[in-house]
Amino acid sequence: MKIGFIGLGIMGSRMAENLRKKGHELVVYNRSKVKAQALLANGAAWADSPAEVAKHVNILFTMLSKPDAVAEVALLGKRSFLDKLLPSSLWIDCSSVNPSFSKLMAVEAKDRNVRFLDAPVAGSKGPAEQAQLLFFVGGDKADVESVKPLLECMGKAVYHVGGHGMGSAMKMVNNILLGGAMVAFAEALVFGESLGITKQTMFDTLAASPVMAPFLNFKRQKIEKADYAVEFPLQWMHKDLHLASETAYETGAALPAMQAVKELYALAMRDGMAAEDFIAVYKVLSRKNQRPA
Ligand SMILES: NC(=O)c1ccc[n+]([C@@H]2O[C@H](COP(=O)([O-])OP(=O)(O)OC[C@H]3O[C@@H](n4cnc5c(N)ncnc54)[C@H](OP(=O)(O)O)[C@@H]3O)[C@@H](O)[C@H]2O)c1
Repeated sequence: MKIGFIGLGIMGSRMAENLRKKGHELVVYNRSKVKAQALLANGAAWADSPAEVAKHVNILFTMLSKPDAVAEVALLGKRSFLDKLLPSSLWIDCSSVNPSFSKLMAVEAKDRNVRFLDAPVAGSKGPAEQAQLLFFVGGDKADVESVKPLLECMGKAVYHVGGHGMGSAMKMVNNILLGGAMVAFAEALVFGESLGITKQTMFDTLAASPVMAPFLNFKRQKIEKADYAVEFPLQWMHKDLHLASETAYETGAALPAMQAVKELYALAMRDGMAAEDFIAVYKVLSRKNQRPA
């Protein structure tokens, strides 16, 4: 049986290609067909709609931007897939969404005799390409075990965090740290520059200390060269922080620092940086001081 993959953006296209490289036959769909061209050239089969994918597979991955997109492709759109999947099929949603949405999808799937896992990932464009992602998975243990060999085609570790929604919960936690660490670092850089320290000196010095988040070593060249070409779209970081905010409302947790961080990404969105890499938030903080002399 073939494997279905829907959502071939920055992450999905690379994840699907790794499944293909490991010998799995794929049926793929993406809203914009052009993004499927490389996979199709390598032998993946195209389906004209999410519903069409479902007819040919009993394992289906989705890697979509946000909850609205997942709901549309799975349930609400004219040619959505959930009603078309064969009984006992397994749907693995790798999109970064909020835990309550994942729980809702698990219920919708169960109502149709479909098994469900939320399995969002940590790691960006490079790790997706090199099959070095981390999977945070929520769902039944037997389902996690059954799909582990496939996840290991795309990633280097699989963490079963708990029941449905817990993979998405872990991803929210992960991205609060990621978004916050980026803003804290950007702010420190701007402050250091105002004191006359070069970015290079700060990177050299801080990289040797335990205070700098390790992912910043991977972003170093991009930050130093002001290269904002996208790896992780800033708009999806803003989305993740918005979803964390909603989730905190549901659980009663307080995220005061994250709310401030989130609004910096909102300012970056307003200033046209939605499709740039999320490191572009540095530009918001580094605007020259307009204070009169
Ligand atoms: N990039 C990263 O570093 C990274 C890392 C970890 C997790 N993530 C998460 O992974 C997910 C995908 O991210 P990405 O970076 O691959 O984003 P992306 O390149 O923008 O891809 C988004 C995908 O969602 C599809 N989509 C959006 N709205 C849709 C709709 N209404 N109907 C159908 N398809 C729709 C897009 O289709 P089109 O191609 O037609 O637009 C595309 O396939 C997001 O949840 C993101 O937060 C990203």
